Amino acid sequence: MPSLNDIRSTFLNFFERNGHRVVESSPLVPRNDPTLMFTNSGMVQFKNCFTGVETRDYKRATTAQKCVRAGGKHNDLDNVGYTARHHTFFEMLGNFSFGDYFKAEAIAFAWELLTRDFGLNPEKLTVTVYHTDEEAAAIWKKVAGLPEARIIRIANDDNFWRMGPTGPCGPCTEIFYDHGPSIWGGPPGSPEEGGDRFIEIWNNVFMQNEQMPDGSLRKLEMQSIDTGMGLERIGALLQGKHDNYDTDLMRSLIEASAHATSADPDGPGKVHHRVIADHLRSTAFLIADGVTPGNEGRGYVLRRIMRRAMRHAHMLGAQDPVMHKLVPTLVRQMGAAYPELNRAQALIEETLKLEETRFRTTLDRGLKLLDDELARLPEGAELPGAAAFKLYDTYGFPLDLTQDALREQGRAVEVAGFDAAMEAQKAKARASWAGSGEAKDATIWYELAEKHGATEFLGYDTEAAEAQLLALVVDGAEVESAAGAVQIVVNQTPYYAESGGQVGDFGIIRTETGLAEVTDTKKAAGVFIHFAQVTEGEFRRGQPAKLEVNHARRSAIRANHSATHLLHEALRRALGDHVAQKGSLNAPDRLRFDFSHSKGLSAAELAGVEVEVNEFVRQNAPVETRIMTPDDARSLGAQALFGEKYGDEVRVVSMGRLNGSGKGADGATYSLELCGGTHVARTGDIGAFVALGDSASSAGVRRIEALTGQAALEHLKLQAARLAEIAATMKAPVTEVAERVRALAEERRALANELAQIKREQALGGGAGKLETDIKEINGIRFIAQVVSGVSGRDLPGLVDALKVRVGSGAVLIVADTGGKAAAAAGVTEDLTARLSAVDLVRAAAEALGGKGGGGRPDMAQAGGNDPARAPQAVAAAEAMIGELK
Ligand code: ALA
Repeated sequence: MPSLNDIRSTFLNFFERNGHRVVESSPLVPRNDPTLMFTNSGMVQFKNCFTGVETRDYKRATTAQKCVRAGGKHNDLDNVGYTARHHTFFEMLGNFSFGDYFKAEAIAFAWELLTRDFGLNPEKLTVTVYHTDEEAAAIWKKVAGLPEARIIRIANDDNFWRMGPTGPCGPCTEIFYDHGPSIWGGPPGSPEEGGDRFIEIWNNVFMQNEQMPDGSLRKLEMQSIDTGMGLERIGALLQGKHDNYDTDLMRSLIEASAHATSADPDGPGKVHHRVIADHLRSTAFLIADGVTPGNEGRGYVLRRIMRRAMRHAHMLGAQDPVMHKLVPTLVRQMGAAYPELNRAQALIEETLKLEETRFRTTLDRGLKLLDDELARLPEGAELPGAAAFKLYDTYGFPLDLTQDALREQGRAVEVAGFDAAMEAQKAKARASWAGSGEAKDATIWYELAEKHGATEFLGYDTEAAEAQLLALVVDGAEVESAAGAVQIVVNQTPYYAESGGQVGDFGIIRTETGLAEVTDTKKAAGVFIHFAQVTEGEFRRGQPAKLEVNHARRSAIRANHSATHLLHEALRRALGDHVAQKGSLNAPDRLRFDFSHSKGLSAAELAGVEVEVNEFVRQNAPVETRIMTPDDARSLGAQALFGEKYGDEVRVVSMGRLNGSGKGADGATYSLELCGGTHVARTGDIGAFVALGDSASSAGVRRIEALTGQAALEHLKLQAARLAEIAATMKAPVTEVAERVRALAEERRALANELAQIKREQALGGGAGKLETDIKEINGIRFIAQVVSGVSGRDLPGLVDALKVRVGSGAVLIVADTGGKAAAAAGVTEDLTARLSAVDLVRAAAEALGGKGGGGRPDMAQAGGNDPARAPQAVAAAEAMIGELK
């Protein structure tokens, strides 16, 4: 008996043999659709290949595509567990032709694969065609030899497949398997078609039209093929089962559930096991594709699925979290085909465990409340909306969980009452933000948040996505269309909005009618605001748009943000546990990190930190992200960030491996931080790390600025170029430059001293000795006076000293022209200071120079004056003063 894994391989191999490229499943969160919640068929990733907007290097493709139908248009959530063929998660096998082969080959491929490779009995197969498609009917007769009776013409949309209200579409032919008269039911199109006798196994769509937004149907230039076969259905058939849940893969999950809950897989709890098995798959694959449980959008669909499964586990009597225990079985079954499951296994297990642990705290009380409410109601009556709302609001019961619980009793919820209670709560919230002053400027964003919900951020996983233009805001008001400056709100975006020190993304947004450059992204009230300039054409509200983040810029930001985490940890290890983040900037061109530390880092400390960061860059270890409670994160040693408010769940980013003495559950993680930012995939993507220096930011806070990647390299190159320039100027090899510069500085100092000496001597009129005749003797005191120019006041004491040496015993006076001003200095040798003070002498001279005062010591004093031309008078005044001495 072939396993589902075998069947998947047989399908893909068959088409590969027939010239098809085996293409990987696209993620469950579609990148190329503005409104689709989850990928719900194989053609989603090829949507634009059919319309010719996109071309690839192959014209034939085959895939096993992950699909989720649990939200939006296709929603099978309610039926899962109760029917044989409904799933929230399933795999769609498909073959595709983009303007290559068409109906004849597609039908021939399908027939050959089913009847030859899969060995189905041709007699058991019946097909439908669109009622006007005689061509397809003729091909079926020719290729498969089907009689007219087994080619059923269907006139309705069952045989005209559309992906949605717009997009590629076309007539289709469906292939049915007849389980024979022992099972009730009739062929498609008959009144008994709803029975289980004829099961649709494969849909082949002849893509030849495009449904336009105005309702018209355009003929496509290319004729293409899109097919879809549910693996679980064909698997059941080939394994001789009538129920998808009896296939090997689903059965192994059901048995794992039975084992974990110690409840008979086929007993009264059968439905619960089926729900758990199905929901485990959708949950695990959604988490692997980056969806995390939340209160809106995709995150809320995930939460609903998880909680629904948890209630069913509870119904089986499970007292502890169960779902996470089943993940290894799922990974064993599907990890080879979908390696993302292996990669995300820890994340899936932790996310499930966290959600289940938390929900358990209210589940029992909620179910008790539900029982009490029901006990009060008459038989079969609806549960009042207010009660359902209380379960939602207080106990975390999504509406469909309550509905699911009531279904077992044949009851429903009064949904209108539930909606009214929800609306009343929103009105209350509105009143509270309208009243708060802080919200005033942001009123428009609160209004948009209320109308459209929070923006869904896709940027952890992708840098490009399609979205819908929900609002265009100009000057604080919504507009219908915009050219020029505009603030754009979309339903989902790959753009990171500024927060936690990481700057907002830049990029390009395109619609059919225009192009805008985004020059910043911020957020308010959960709404991402793209600050943009429509530079070509115009944007219109409601349009689908392609959003693309500037890749180079985002990569540089990512590198800087991850490097900041490594830097933080390196500083903590080098300086001590008191190092805490006090602020940061993660821009494309640099990073800045402020941290508590009281004194500057020594050159050795800074160099050591730089070396350590670079070691972890070169380690090239994967950067991992997990979701957990803030308490769990702290107990693992996570560094909480300054100024951030943390909710019930936090994102924890870890990087770097150690041999012990680390953080995390395994004690081997280097850096572990609570962080909502975007990071590199592996530390090696940081490239290189260069610290520019350490400075004081504020009291007790230091700041390090640093560069990574290309910027770090360019900085080093620039430094090297500067050094080379110096070396060239010095005419010395780079290795000797430092020594040469030191020698040069030394030489300069010596020359300066020498020069000063020469100047002094020059000022005194040349060499020593010749001045003996210039010495006068007045009143028994030897006196030299000298008038000089071209020296500064600073030089005078040195000149006075020199003259004092020459006079031996006596007094000296120097009068200098210092460039328009006069300066005087007087000196008296030690032996005479009792009789004559240099201060008095210089004052006498200064007075004649038009100055006042003067000061110093008895042996040396200085004064200033205004009129250097009066130097002779100054000298005369000094001589007179000496002459009058007693
Ligand atoms: N796209 C087609 C389907 O989903 C094959 O049925």
